[in-house]
Amino acid sequence: MQLFIDSANRDEIRTVAGLGIIAGVTTNPSLLAKEDPTTPVEKIIAEIHQIVGGHISVEVVSTDTDGMIREAEEILSWLPEATIKIPMIPAGLAAVARLSQQEIPTNVTLVFSPVQALAAANAGATYVSVFLGRLDDAGHDGIGVLEDVAEIWDVQGIETQIIAASVRHPMHIVRAAKAGAHIATVPYKVLMQSLKHPLTDAGLEAFLRDAAKRQVQTVTV
Ligand code: G3P
Repeated sequence: MQLFIDSANRDEIRTVAGLGIIAGVTTNPSLLAKEDPTTPVEKIIAEIHQIVGGHISVEVVSTDTDGMIREAEEILSWLPEATIKIPMIPAGLAAVARLSQQEIPTNVTLVFSPVQALAAANAGATYVSVFLGRLDDAGHDGIGVLEDVAEIWDVQGIETQIIAASVRHPMHIVRAAKAGAHIATVPYKVLMQSLKHPLTDAGLEAFLRDAAKRQVQTVTV
C-alpha cells in the first residue's frame, strides 16, 4: 500500500518527502484554506508538485458538470500531471465520465458507501477516496465500509485504485492496508506519529549510552 500525504502545507510535505516514504499528495479546499491566502493556489500546487513529483490530487469547487470540466481544464493548463478530485455527487459522476473519456485521471472524493464507490468506478474514476474518520465520527464503521469496497473490488476485478482517506490515527493505516486499500492518504501529524515507538526510542538511547561507554574505554586504555 502506498502512502500519500493529505496536506497542502509545503513545509510538512518537504519534511515527509525527504523521508522517502510518500508517493503523492492529496489536497482539498479546506487544506488549501489553511495556507497563506496571498499565494495563488496554482503556485502552491506547483511547488508541492516540485517537492514530491508523484501523484497530486487537486479538487474542483464547482457543483455542476460543466463547471467541473472547466475547472479541470484550468487546473491541467497549469499542471498537466494533476489528478482531478471530484465530489461524489451525480454532477460529479457525469464529469468523471467525460474526463475519463479523455483519459484524464480523476479521484472521486467524499465516498462514504460501497455503492457510491461502485458508481464512481463505473463512471471511470481512476481513484475513489473512502473517508474513514468522518464515517467513524458519524457513528459508522469506516474500516467496515473500506473492507466492503475492497471485497467488491476483488470479486468484480475492478481496477480503480482505493484510497483510504480521512485517516485519523496509525491503526487506520494498518487496517486500511489489511483491508486491501491501494493507498492511504495521511495527515502529517498522523504520519509522523505512526513512525514513532517508545521501544525504538528507549532502545536507541541504550545503544547510544553503551556506544559512549565503549568510546570512553577506548580513550582511557
Ligand atoms: O482529503 C480528504 C480527507 O482525507 C479529509 O480528511 O480529516 O478532513 O476528514 P478529514
